Amino acid sequence: MKTLITELFGIDYPIQCGGMLWIATPELAAAISNTGAMGNLTSGNYNSADELRAAIDRTRELTYRPFIVNITTMPSIRLPTHLLMDFFEVCCEKQVTAIEIAGAPVDSFLGSDFIPMAKEAGVKLLHKVGTLKHAVHAEKVGYDAVTVAGFEEGGFPHKDNVSTMVLLPRVREAVNLPILAAGGIADGKSLAAALMLGADGVMMATRFLATRESGVHESIYRLLLEKTETDTVLQLQSLLAGFGLQIRALKNPIMEQVAEIEEQGGDLGALLPLISGERAKAVWKDGNVDEAMLTIGQSVGRVRDIPSVADLIPRMLAEAGEALERGRQALA
Ligand SMILES: Cc1cc2nc3c(=O)[nH]c(=O)nc-3n(C[C@H](O)[C@H](O)[C@H](O)COP(=O)(O)O)c2cc1C
Repeated sequence: MKTLITELFGIDYPIQCGGMLWIATPELAAAISNTGAMGNLTSGNYNSADELRAAIDRTRELTYRPFIVNITTMPSIRLPTHLLMDFFEVCCEKQVTAIEIAGAPVDSFLGSDFIPMAKEAGVKLLHKVGTLKHAVHAEKVGYDAVTVAGFEEGGFPHKDNVSTMVLLPRVREAVNLPILAAGGIADGKSLAAALMLGADGVMMATRFLATRESGVHESIYRLLLEKTETDTVLQLQSLLAGFGLQIRALKNPIMEQVAEIEEQGGDLGALLPLISGERAKAVWKDGNVDEAMLTIGQSVGRVRDIPSVADLIPRMLAEAGEALERGRQALA
């Protein structure tokens, strides 16, 4: 396939994995990149510049193909801003193919010299946005591409609650950059639809979580098969709305407690023991699914199996071809 996204990143298929804390490791990134799609190495998995350096080296041992490194730019106790700056510098030093910025724009959060730093290193810069305004800003300050994420997405949707179906064509009309569509994308039908709405490719996370190579506990795989599109909640507006964000996570007892604390006006100190990343890190591996906040998108309702990524990608491409042909015949 050839789109602006395959050309920009030098990949075979316009399908990218999104950042996934604790899940998007060298092993998953390389497995995805080895199919001709684009894996994601999430810097938040690491506690120092050296750890991220080692993870980039490890990914390169497992694949010679391009992958993207996610840097999530939002206030965090475990990942202070100076560490995110170190991560960005490591990506430039290592000349990774691309950096995915998620959260605040890199120029306002880390500093305006970070965009020229990436350009000098030949590293492409992509911004995940949940509003038209941020996409326009990304183009203005020199990003190479945007990921347009509707509020169906798992993780940190924008607080404006605009769906992929509406946000994507809005951004396409206003911005002259390569675009990845995200939020609710789970198969070839959604890839075809995204291309028709003006995207040059898609980004998925929940669907990649539901593959053998994500390496999560069998109970998590069972959960992904059982849950439907109505089983996620939007919460943490009390903490994140100031940054324009909120969280989409699976409904479970932890999220019920979070809702109670938010209703009672509880602060970060009251919420942190429930929502800490360390809690989720344990649960992905031990499978105690009621014990942590699990960021998962509405697309969980479209997960029907747990394939290997080597099976998922060609299947998506075949489905997309069928969907496009159906559309062509309908319009003929
Ligand atoms: C398990 C999981 C962990 C995630 N962690 C992060 C993260 O650390 N940083 C980030 O920017 N987005 C994170 N996200 C959001 C994804 O990168 C992506 O934007 C979103 O999930 C896309 O929607 P989808 O799940 O419908 O494919 C995570 C998503 C999942 C499912």
